[in-house]
Amino acid sequence: MRTPIVAGNWKLNKTISEAVELVTALRDLVANVTDVEIVVAPTFTALSAVARALQGSNIRLSAQNIFWEDSGAFTGEISPVMLKDVGCDYVIIGHSERRQYFGETNESVNRKVKAALTHGLKPIICVGERLEDREAGKTKSVVENHVINGIDGLSAEQLLSTVIAYEPVWAIGTGITATPNEAQEVHAFIRSLLLRNYSADVTEQIRIQCGGSVKPDNAVELLTQADIDGALVGGASLEAESFAQIVKAGSG
Ligand code: 13P
Repeated sequence: MRTPIVAGNWKLNKTISEAVELVTALRDLVANVTDVEIVVAPTFTALSAVARALQGSNIRLSAQNIFWEDSGAFTGEISPVMLKDVGCDYVIIGHSERRQYFGETNESVNRKVKAALTHGLKPIICVGERLEDREAGKTKSVVENHVINGIDGLSAEQLLSTVIAYEPVWAIGTGITATPNEAQEVHAFIRSLLLRNYSADVTEQIRIQCGGSVKPDNAVELLTQADIDGALVGGASLEAESFAQIVKAGSG
């Protein structure tokens, strides 16, 4: 059985004090949840304070991006060593906003994934098609391209530490969600892709999150699909009550 993983991607939101306020409320609301892995991904500037506020809780910390070098002359970048040092367990890699606005490619995603794993960070690799891809019937080829290149060269053991987040770009921040059937179809397709290079046993253990306008009122029907193992939540993770409701939708 896969333990669902529900992660909040806060994107470019929250000052340090707002971030601490949010997780302080959240940790009480989800304190009794034991069957869902809960993750929050604040901005870099809030990571340290949020790590302190989460001590002793059942909530794990993630960064939203990473660089592949450990140290050196790379102005503005943050290394895997630094993310471990601040208390991160996870890191989101290849979010569509990074692909769209910051030139992230499958190759940079793959380098970041490998660097994260080398340092004991678990990557959440984001994949998903744009609206024009879907309309052109290219959903599966785009997703295949993101998945296969993103995990290229990973050992089975490394893959087991990796989470894949399927976020159709047209569903992000739009209020339009993939229907449970649409999402399930792509999730099952992703799992079938993993079978090409990994055993059925490994493939069955990999968690595939859904993302894109996941809200308290659609979370249950999404999270109960066979191949949907949690959610990567944007807007609804910025408020403790709504994020807690989505976490609980993955419980039980
Ligand atoms: P929304 O939940 O705001 O649509 O964002 C989804 C997302 O991009 C999470 O990474």
